[in-house]
This record gives sequence, structure tokens and C-alpha cells, in this order.
Amino acid sequence: MSFNVAVDGPAGAGKSTVAKAAAKAAGLIYVDTGAMYRAIGLYILENGIDIRDEEKVSGALSGIQVSITYEEGVQKVLLNGKDVSGQIRTQEVGEAASVTSAYEAVRAKLLELQRSLAASSDVIMDGRDIGTNILPNADLKLYLAAAVSVRAKRRYDELIEKGEPAVLSEIEKEIEERDYRDSHREIAPLKRAEDAVLLDTSEMDIDKAVKTALAMIFERRVEVMARRK
Ligand code: DC
Repeated sequence: MSFNVAVDGPAGAGKSTVAKAAAKAAGLIYVDTGAMYRAIGLYILENGIDIRDEEKVSGALSGIQVSITYEEGVQKVLLNGKDVSGQIRTQEVGEAASVTSAYEAVRAKLLELQRSLAASSDVIMDGRDIGTNILPNADLKLYLAAAVSVRAKRRYDELIEKGEPAVLSEIEKEIEERDYRDSHREIAPLKRAEDAVLLDTSEMDIDKAVKTALAMIFERRVEVMARRK
């Protein structure tokens, strides 16, 4: 039986940084489910389909195959066999993913892929509905949070470092809108599972967040192994 850690929370709370580092240290496979939604968003944009037209988006899904591979432990997302891991990291694709991930057919398409990865391997899976919907029986559930102003500043610093244009107030507004959409949709909204441990990273540097998460993962792993013996 595999060992599964669910990591949920809004954009910019530090989920992927914590999950990647914890995966490396604890020997788990990191699964970034946001990347799968982004791959679908990318396809929709590339094919000129209106992201707000649920019927058209749902109809297009039969032409989309999303899969995951790993190269030296790093997740690669394939869209119809093509590696799109770099292309999906834009603001525009993030928006398209946020809008289209609210559609039932889009969520249904990715549910089995996510569950089967968790069933066959020890994973740390990050997303929005992993603890509540995809892996309700995960061995450990973490919910990462941080104040909007802190998350906006992190994103701003990231863009400036990459030499990309950025306006802090605009980023803050985009984050607020995305949070609202992700947590108010009807199906599988972003929500802390009742049994998820809250990790507020507003005042924590990333090193501290990783260490805190790792300590919880190791402790739970020992408990689970003892129970399953
Ligand atoms: O984590 P991210 O920014 O890469 O995710 C992009 C969008 O995908 C996010 O705004 C909401 C959606 N998403 C989701 O609905 N469920 C998940 N498990 C992961 C992401």
C-alpha cells in the first residue's frame, strides 16, 4: 500500500516549493496537479476555444491527452505526447486553468490520473482539492496558507528576478480573483479538509516551512509503517 501526502492551498502559499523539497528529502514522488489543469488550459487557448464556454471546452476534452513522466525526479507534463512543462508557466495559462478547472468534465478527466498515480506510488500531491476530494484517505494532509499581500510580494519578486514586468497592486488583484474563483466553484472548491494540518507561511521563510512539513511527514510515515506491519 502506498504512502500519500496531500498538500492543498491557494496560489503562492508555497505548496510546490514545500512539496518538492519534502519529496526529495522523504523519497516521495512529487505530483503537481496544477500542471495538469494548466496543460488543459494551454490546449484550449492554443485552439482558440473560449475558456468561458463550458460546452465547447468540455467537447474539446476528447482530443486532449494529459500524462506525466519524470526526468531525474522532475515532473514533466505531456500534452498529447508533447512536453509542455515550460509553456504552461505563464499568467495567461494560469488564468485559463483557473477558469476551466471549474468545469465538471475537466475535473472528471484528471481525477483518475491523479488517483492512479497515488495508488501506485508514494506521492506528495499538491493542488486545491487533494485532501478533500482526490485522496480523502491520504496519510497526511497539509493545508498551506499565507496572506494575500505576502503571496503577491513573492510572485512580484519572482517576476522581477526573471526580468519580467510586474506591478504589485495588479498581482495582488489577480491573486484575489483567482482565490475567489478557486474557492467558490461548485465542484471540488479549494477548501481546507477538516483533518488537514494548517501551515501558515506568511511569517515563515521557506526553509522553516519545509522543515516543519518534513517533520510531520516523517512522524506520520513511522506511524503508518508501524500500523501496516
Ligand atoms: O497550482 P496552479 O497555480 O498551477 O494551478 C492552476 C489552476 O488549476 C488553479 O488556479 C486552480 C486549478 N487547480 C485545481 O482546480 N485543482 C487542483 N488540484 C490544482 C489546480
